[in-house]
Formats: sequence, structure tokens, C-alpha cells
Amino acid sequence: MKRCHHLCRLLPLWLSLVILSFSHISYGDNVTYDHRALVINGVRRVLISGSIHYPRSTPEMWPDLIQKAKDGGLDVVETYVFWNLHEPVQGQYDFEGRKDLVQFVKTVAEAGLYVHLRIGPYVCAEWNYGGFPLWLHFIPGIKFRTDNEPFKTEMQRFTAKIVDLMKQENLYASQGGPIILSQIENEYGNIDSAYGAAAQRYIQWSASMALSLDTGVPWVMCQQSDAPDPIINTCNGFYCDQFSPNSNNKPKMWTENWSGWFLSFGGSAPYRPPQDLAFAVARFFQRGGTFQNYYMYQGGTNFGRTTGGPFIATSYDYDAPIDEYGLLNQPKWGHLRDLHKVIKQCEPALIATDPTYTSLGQNLEAHVYKTSSGACAAFLANINTQDATVKFNGKTYQLPGWSVSILPDCKNVVYNTAQINSQETTTEMRYLSESTDQPLSRLSSSGWSYLKEPVGISKADAFTRNGLVEQINTTADASDYLWYSISFNITMGEPWLISGMQTLLHVESLGHVLRIFVNGYYIGGGMGSASSTNISLSKLIILNKGKNTIDLLSATVGLQNYGAFFDLSGAGVTGPVTLSANGVTFDLSPYVWTYQIGLKGEDMSLFDDSDSSASLWLSDSTLPTNVPLVWYKTQFGAPAGNDLVAIDFTGMGKGEAWINGQSIGRFWPTYTAPLSGCSDSCNYKGAYSSSKCLKNCGKPSQQLYHVPRSFLKEGANTMVLFEEEGGDPTKISFATRHTGSLCAHVSEMHPAPVNFEVYPELAVSKQKLGPMVHLTCPGPNQLINEVKFASFGMPQGTCGSYSHGKCSSTNALSVVQQACVGTNSCRVPVSTKAFGDPCRGVTKSLAIEATCSS
Ligand code: GAL
Repeated sequence: MKRCHHLCRLLPLWLSLVILSFSHISYGDNVTYDHRALVINGVRRVLISGSIHYPRSTPEMWPDLIQKAKDGGLDVVETYVFWNLHEPVQGQYDFEGRKDLVQFVKTVAEAGLYVHLRIGPYVCAEWNYGGFPLWLHFIPGIKFRTDNEPFKTEMQRFTAKIVDLMKQENLYASQGGPIILSQIENEYGNIDSAYGAAAQRYIQWSASMALSLDTGVPWVMCQQSDAPDPIINTCNGFYCDQFSPNSNNKPKMWTENWSGWFLSFGGSAPYRPPQDLAFAVARFFQRGGTFQNYYMYQGGTNFGRTTGGPFIATSYDYDAPIDEYGLLNQPKWGHLRDLHKVIKQCEPALIATDPTYTSLGQNLEAHVYKTSSGACAAFLANINTQDATVKFNGKTYQLPGWSVSILPDCKNVVYNTAQINSQETTTEMRYLSESTDQPLSRLSSSGWSYLKEPVGISKADAFTRNGLVEQINTTADASDYLWYSISFNITMGEPWLISGMQTLLHVESLGHVLRIFVNGYYIGGGMGSASSTNISLSKLIILNKGKNTIDLLSATVGLQNYGAFFDLSGAGVTGPVTLSANGVTFDLSPYVWTYQIGLKGEDMSLFDDSDSSASLWLSDSTLPTNVPLVWYKTQFGAPAGNDLVAIDFTGMGKGEAWINGQSIGRFWPTYTAPLSGCSDSCNYKGAYSSSKCLKNCGKPSQQLYHVPRSFLKEGANTMVLFEEEGGDPTKISFATRHTGSLCAHVSEMHPAPVNFEVYPELAVSKQKLGPMVHLTCPGPNQLINEVKFASFGMPQGTCGSYSHGKCSSTNALSVVQQACVGTNSCRVPVSTKAFGDPCRGVTKSLAIEATCSS
């Protein structure tokens, strides 16, 4: 009786525990995989993913970026985890603000999307030191990314830290959270041969370490053909249709489809045509793929000193579907949204079976996914650059060169990768000046104060060494800057160095940037480039009788992030540093040098706008301009409204900029792109590579720098600049970023829009719906206020410079005005029914350029 009583009391507790743990499980998703796809709760899924790196935008931007990703048809948001952000000092973690990984993952979850968390913790990513914290390098006996105990201990500790953090917040799908996938390491297979036999052991260890963390969701390794089971090896590249995983039990996954490419200081701006990007995606799904991730979907900004290197620019726009500022990059975003829609229409067939391949001719391929239950999806590819006509299932199809047509019912072409229905938008920068009504205080010389950074050694913690030191080992990247200083006396007894006579000073450096000062005067400088960091400088100088000082300022521009042993690449003055005169050369390298890590102004936190330094700033009428090593400061009012803000640094040399104490990154408008190698319109046909489509030749690699709205406040804002090379801050200007024109150019041959369901009255039959131009102003309250151009017939040119071709109907402008002006969104059929037939027997198209009210 007593016993029963006891049990009876325990039973409800026990029951409620069972229910609790069950309810917990029932919230969770079970993520596994098989040969065809990732399997979520027993269902194979076709998943479209895109990379958005949380620290490359601001928490205020995240919801909008993620919503735009969702609207663009994404199911998954992918991000790396950036170790050096989260653990700047060993054992001291930071997850605040832009580093709030948990908040980012939750924001993705709130939008109803999944997360692919690529922990790395080596990430490459054009990120400083590939994401490794610098302190890691100083652990005795450490060797990165190989079978090395000190490294493995730290890698495991950080990986476990992140997994635990995600688990604590219930963020794994197995716990009801959004994370369906995780990555360990990154593209190690590209370089592992350099690490010999230990590489294999390291990969085995990485795999079992990751698995032991028990996330409940699959792990992937990218570019790792020997990824141990059950880890899925995935593909990265511009095309991955030819890839297959290392086991028939693993799905074909593409973790990095490069939507464009990154920008370097000194380089031109890469872009990737949307037709080719869509072609690559379609080819991947055509040939059995079921998971595809855009690297990047929004690239963003490398704030502060986060860029990798060397020479990675501050903008990480990447020509991604969403631009650096968070605006849609059209028509890329829209063309891919349409593609995603069609791929989703094919999903039932895609997940059910492998495709069957039929050749339709040379480089003409049909792949069909056909199920016993009657689902059928077909992909027809033309891999030639010329257009082709093919026969498929008894019907004739026109296949433009380098394109894939998608037939979600195996009959009707709903999408072709080369035929863009989506609108294109141009962006324009509006410069703000005193003359506008913007409450922007003019940045006139009277509005600036300044402080000169001393040349050479000025800090108490300077130290001496015999010979020249390697820079990164010396600074531990606490600053971009290291001063190398040497003083010597010239007496009459040194015939090869006669005071007042020209002497040749020669300096060899590993880079990245070198500035030479002799007796306090700036003699000149030089820099390496993304392809070769080395600098070799020779300058004629005049030495004094008595004491002379040579100060060499060496600066890094982002630490190496890629390659075998990238962590050991090194920087700074290597020597020799020689003086030559009268046919005699003297090597200063082995003598005693004095070193200073960083700048005095950095130690004083001049960028912080702290009151302690306020009295030091000078605001006399002689603002020094075009001289090196000056700190500048001003106050300004933020541009009104919510417009996206940029600073045009034209007029400045090289340095770093802070707004209200937050660094917007390094600026360097004087480093220009090469004069040649660019093309205004790059032919999308044929295999793409990162150097195929470049723009901006001869111009500054980066002129405009994003200032996130959340960095600005009402009233007075403070801007601090450190100018290393020489510049004139009164020349810089603020600009806001806007959508310029809306354009579209759609031919009679294009398929009907895939988003026809946005027109309920037309949803009757999509087959009856012909091709159509669809224009929408970006803001919900904006209206189309002008149709700048409309032509039905054979219009030519590109957005902003369309012209009427050989034939054009006379009523085009009025038809389009009628349909569009005064509306937020309009559609115009591309048909002779609407416009009459200006030229029989030829394929006609409709081109429109319109603008929206602001
Ligand atoms: C890949 C790497 C990425 C990124 C990309 C280029 O090799 O995995 O992290 O660096 O190249 O943008």
C-alpha cells in the first residue's frame, strides 16, 4: 500500500517528463541524407541556399537581407563562423553586435528559413588570416591545419564552443532550430598534398571530432574528395554539374556557387552575368544536384581590419544578388528568383529519381526525371555558344547558345537561363553638398581638426633588435603598422657616404606597403599587389653630416587567407636595406634597429572620440593636406531619411575611417585598377572565370565606402580619418544610393513569367499567358512616374541607352505609359495584339526604361 502510494505519486511526474521530452522531439526536425538529397523528416528536399556573413552587415540590416533572400526563393542561409571575431584573446569570447551569431541564426529562423553553419574554423572567405585568431600562431609547437596536437586542441575547443552555444539556444534542427547542416574545415582538399601524410590523419581526426560533437544534423566538408563517412563531400566552383560525391549514399551538393568574385585594392571589379550564373545552377540540377548555395547571396562590407589578403578591398559586394548596401542587384536577383521557382516546380520529380540522359546532338543534352506516379521534369541544355534547334519527345525546341531550358512537365518550357524576364535596375549615387537641402554640414577646411602622427619612434614601448624582424610575428597584427628605425652618424672618415651628396637608399620588403622617411621627411613609398606582395624601392637621398635617421613604415593590408601554410607567409622589411655612394654599398640590415608597433594615435584611441584626446586636436586655419601621417576629424549631420549612405573618398590617399568610433574599413582610392582587361558587356556564353568579366579599368578599385545607417545618429556625428599617404579630407563627399531606372527587354520568344500567380486574374492558364514585361518600383510607396523609353520591334542597346532598331511600332510609348505611369507595378504583354505588328516575319521584342518617384 505504502509502495503503491509512492509510485502513484511519482507516476504523474514521470508521465509529464515523458510528455515534455516528447514534445521537445516533436518540435525537432530529423535531418539525414541519402543518394538523392538531404532528407528532412523523412522527405527528400531540393534546397536553394545563399551565403550571408553576419559580420559583413549590421544586425539592423539582417532582417531585411534575410527577407529579400526568402523572397528570392532561398530555403537556407549559409554563414561561416569567424573565430578571430569571437575569440580575439584566447579564452575571451565576444558575441556582441555584428558578432551576435545566435541573434543572426534566430533572425533566419524567424523568417522561416534553414541555416547551414560552416564552422570551419578555418574559413578562407577573404577574411583576415582566414578567420584564425593571431594568438593561435604563437602557441608553442603549433602547426596549422595538420595532425598537430596544439592546433587540434584549439580547433576542437572552438568548434565545441560554437556547437555548445548553438545547442544551448536549441538552434540545431534536431532541437527544433533552423540549423540543418554544418561544415568542418574548408577546402582542405585543394592544398592537403602540401601537408604530406599528416593531412590524411588530420582529416580523419577533423571528421571524428566533428561527429563526436553530436549535433544531430549532417556534417559536410567542401572540396574534400576523401571526406570520411558519414561526412558529405561537397563541391565549390563556378560550375559543379560534373561533380559527384565519394559515395553513392551521399547527395550531390554544391556549397559555393560563386555568384561573382571578390575585389582587391589595385584590381578591377569582377562581375558574373546572370545568364551564366543561372546556366550553372540549372546544369547542376539537370545533372542530379539537389542542394546549391550561392557564395555570396549578399557579400556586404569588410568593416574595420577584417579583410583578408593581402589587398582584399573593403567592399565585399561580390556582384551578389543582393548588393553591398542591401539593395537588389537586378536582373540577377530576379532572374534567379524565377529559376528557383521553376526548380521548385520540378522538385517532386527531382527528388524521386536519378535523371536519364539523352544526347540531342553535339553538346546538346536532355536529362529527364520521370517517376512511376507520373511526375516528369526535363532539362534541355545547349552547351555550344551558337543557338540550336532540337527535337525532344517529338516536339521542336529553340535553345539559345549556352542555355538550359526547364520543362517542369516535360513539355512546356517555363524557363530558359539565357532569357531574362526580370527587370533590371540601375543604381545611382546622389552626391550631397552644401547646396542641397540635406542637413549635412559642409566638410570645409574650417570644419576639420587634425593631429599629426609622429614620424618614426614616438611610443614608450618601442624596442630594439639586431637586424630586421618579420612584421606579423612582431605586431601579432595588433596594428597594420610597424616602424623600422635606424640612426647613424656620418663623419668625414666615411668616404662612401659624403654628407650633402646623393646616396642611393635601397629597401626590400615582403610588403604589403612601405613608406620611407629620411630625417623626418617623406621620401616616397610603394606597395605590392594581390598577386605579388613584394616591394623593392630605390630612392636617391641626401644625408646630413652627423646624425641621420631612416624610418621605414611598413603596413599590412589584410593578412593572407588562402593557400598551404598561408599562416606563415610573413610581411615587412626583409632587407637588405642598403646605402650606396661612390661605388660602395653599405648594408644597414644587420645593425641595431628600433621598432614601434602601431601608431601613437592608435594607442590614444583617437578614433574613439573620447574626451581625453579632445583638447589635443588642432583646428587652426592651416589644415595640412597632401602630407602623410595625419589624423583628421570633423562633425557632420547625417543625410536625412533612410537613404543608404556612402562616402566617396576621392581626394584621400590611403588609411582607415571611423564614424562615431566604428571603423568603416580601410580606404584607398588612389590604388587604381589596371588600364586594360575590362569589357563593358561581357559575353555570358562560354565558361566563366574570375578574370573573364571585369569593369572599372583605370579607375580607383574602390571609391565608395558603405556607411551603415545604424552607424549614424541624429545630430552631430563624428568622423575620424587616419591618412597614411597624403590626402585632402575637404574633397571627400557623402552620397546616398538610389535605384535609378527600371528596365526590361523581353522578346516574343521568352517564356511567360513564372510568377504569373501574382496576377490572380491571369492564373487561369499559364500556357495562354505569353511573354510579358513586369516592372515594379523597389519601394512599396513608390510610383512609376516616367516612361523614358519604350519600343516594340527590334530595339537595341542596354538599360539607359536603348534605341529603336530597324522596326518599331508607333504606339509603344503610349501603350506602356497607359499601363505603367502612376502605378507601383505594371505588366505589359510582349505581343502584336498589344502593339500591332511593325515588321512581319521577324521576332520582335519590347524594351522599356522607366523611373520611379523617390
Ligand atoms: C573559396 C573559399 C571561400 C572564398 C572563395 C572565394 O575557395 O572556400 O571561403 O574564399 O573561395 O571568394
